[in-house]
Amino acid sequence: MSVIDEVKQRVDIVEVIGQYASLKKAGRTFRGLCPFHSEKHPSFFVYPEQQSWHCFGTCNTGGDAFSFIMKKESIDFGEALRLLAQRAGVTIPSRFEPGAEGKEKERLYQANQTAVQYFHNLLVNSPPGKKAQKYVTSRRLSPETVAEFQLGYSSNSWDALKQYLTKRGYTESELLAAGLIIQTEEGKTHDRFRNRLMFPISDARGRTTGFGARALDDSEPKYLNSPQTPIFDKSHSLYAINLAAAAIRQQNMAVIVEGYMDVITAHQNGFKNVVASMGTSVTEKQVSTLKRLTRNVNVILALDADAAGDEAMLRSVSYENILDAEVKFMILPRGKDPDNVIREDQNNWQQLVATAPTVVDYAFNTITSELDLNTARGKSLAAEKLIPIVAEIKKPERYDPYLNRLSKLTGMNYKSLEAALGKIKASQGRRRIKEPKPEAITRALRPLVSSPLEEYCLALLLQHPELKGRDEGLLPEYFDSSENREISIAWQQADDTSSLKDKLDAALHEEVDALINRILPANQIERKYANCVLRLKEKFLRNLAIKREEILALEAEAGGTDAELAKLEEQGIEVSVQLGEVFAQKARRGQEPRR
Ligand code: UTP
Ligand code: MN
Repeated sequence: MSVIDEVKQRVDIVEVIGQYASLKKAGRTFRGLCPFHSEKHPSFFVYPEQQSWHCFGTCNTGGDAFSFIMKKESIDFGEALRLLAQRAGVTIPSRFEPGAEGKEKERLYQANQTAVQYFHNLLVNSPPGKKAQKYVTSRRLSPETVAEFQLGYSSNSWDALKQYLTKRGYTESELLAAGLIIQTEEGKTHDRFRNRLMFPISDARGRTTGFGARALDDSEPKYLNSPQTPIFDKSHSLYAINLAAAAIRQQNMAVIVEGYMDVITAHQNGFKNVVASMGTSVTEKQVSTLKRLTRNVNVILALDADAAGDEAMLRSVSYENILDAEVKFMILPRGKDPDNVIREDQNNWQQLVATAPTVVDYAFNTITSELDLNTARGKSLAAEKLIPIVAEIKKPERYDPYLNRLSKLTGMNYKSLEAALGKIKASQGRRRIKEPKPEAITRALRPLVSSPLEEYCLALLLQHPELKGRDEGLLPEYFDSSENREISIAWQQADDTSSLKDKLDAALHEEVDALINRILPANQIERKYANCVLRLKEKFLRNLAIKREEILALEAEAGGTDAELAKLEEQGIEVSVQLGEVFAQKARRGQEPRR
């Protein structure tokens, strides 16, 4: 999730605007005197469901929390984002801060690297490390493995590491940023990791980004990990990627397991193409990291049977599209993890690797085994569940064998299965497979209002500079969300992508990249763009009309004065006239021959 979405999820617009204007609940909305112009009759409304605001008075404009703050504080989008982030307790990763970022990060890598050596030395050479050594031996890790993985020990002290690093010139704020120390509520700081076996986590370039730290007994949490920092995001990292990279390239195959110990045991037994997702389901970012290692790398996901559900299957097929290679499922024996399996019998592991089915085959096998394919219902359920999975495959040339297989299984005719597949594909563009949630989030979150139409329109614009010359009457206010508004405004002013990015806050660059890389149909671009603008305009006007009607109802109920009602009605008429024009335009479009 982008940092912008995170802020949106955490701030409540009623709370935000409530700090600038006195609002009263009115039906489903909140109402008050407009904070932007002086008025006696309240014409300013806040909509908690849409997380938006609108002034129906002199301003006759509206937007979301960002645009409110921008207008009220006279600041730009980036400043509004930072202000709201601060209020919501969201840290903006420093990679979005212009300038000094590279240097700051470099310091954090160095602090981590120094900590690795410190912890490792404690484990291998110090008396307090004996206890951890014993644990390491009990897990049957060899001294070579301890050295290869640079395992370490964090002593049972509140500030041993802090003192060690401070003496070497690191500031308290650097150590906090690296996640090596923690600040208490009273403002004091102490070591984050104490009395634990330390697992340094590196990126593919071998820089230490963070740590996992295991308790030596059964205290909780079993593993304590580095928090998110400017250089560490657990859901983007793969444990041991630096040590596994060579084998992955050589074998053109990576196995992703869950845990630290799974990886280490695998490597110690010669299976060196193994990395870990560190507890959570595999993410798109992790898959992309593998793709960067070598082209068309095949991936095996080692999963509990429970973890291989419908959602995981869909997601994994989408990973095949990213990788341009196969994703396979290795289903672990119940109650066992790879660490257990390999220790018990290496051959068993090799066997599991060798026989892992591809995701789609796995889907066919499990889904059909749960159904009675002798009944009509069983057959239609099989098609219903399997077609969406096949549809997730990007390359149409791969459909044929699966459609054939499905046709044989269900007795349904190939053409009708193909048609069903086509339908799902058409609607799929809009749906995105949910990424697993990286970490539990403590505060109550509101659902994000996503706007596929807005994004589609922007993607068209960014990928087709020639559309700039077409005046379809697109207005920034047609975009409900401020970030999309910002991008559309920057696009109007910019000559190319890099100057577009220059005009935008760094926090928006990821979205711009995503829009540029989005896969779009290649034909009839101009027509599609025109339609898109029309639909955006329609959405905008309809939304306005609904809001106005609600307010008219409120006013009538409260016995508003004739003059005010008349004014609102007049504005309402204007909206309906404009909507009428949109419908007329759409009707004309519908009759146009398709080129
Ligand atoms: P497991 O609970 O399966 O642990 O968590 P494990 O890897 O088998 O560890 P051992 O064998 O008991 O030592 C799998 C992975 O989930 C993450 C870690 O990456 C762990 O290796 N995890 C688990 C955490 O991050 N925190 C936890 O508290 C537990
Ligand atoms: Mn284990």
